[in-house]
Amino acid sequence: MKRRDFINWVGLGLIASSLPVAIAACSSQTTPVSKNWETVGTSAELDKTGQLLAKNSPAGPVLVVGTSKGANLTAVNPTCTHAGCTVGWKAETKKFVCPCHNSEFGIDGKVQKGPATEALKTYAVKIEGNSVVVKAS
Ligand code: FES
Repeated sequence: MKRRDFINWVGLGLIASSLPVAIAACSSQTTPVSKNWETVGTSAELDKTGQLLAKNSPAGPVLVVGTSKGANLTAVNPTCTHAGCTVGWKAETKKFVCPCHNSEFGIDGKVQKGPATEALKTYAVKIEGNSVVVKAS
């Protein structure tokens, strides 16, 4: 076997052996999401703390609370309807609380304590594969 033939043979072998790995890597990152649903993070990120904040998701700002295996997944736009601060989730009281003027919102986004008078916008949310996905309601 000539030197050039040997180099070509080794090169083709390397390409052929790495092709399945490359295809698997590409397919795991392009898991299709249901139409009109947007990925806001991974279920692993959500499960770490029980909440996931995606300030710049394609659906807008989204705060998801719950776990990927729980039945109580909830997603809201965390922009306070009083003056635009970002609400946080208080797991111990199961409320969204605004740090600016202490408005409180229930897990359904509805106002429980002012000064805010309008509910937080909510999103339908689900786990799809390893992704947390939302759809504006
Ligand atoms: Fe949230 Fe005022 S901005 S209570």
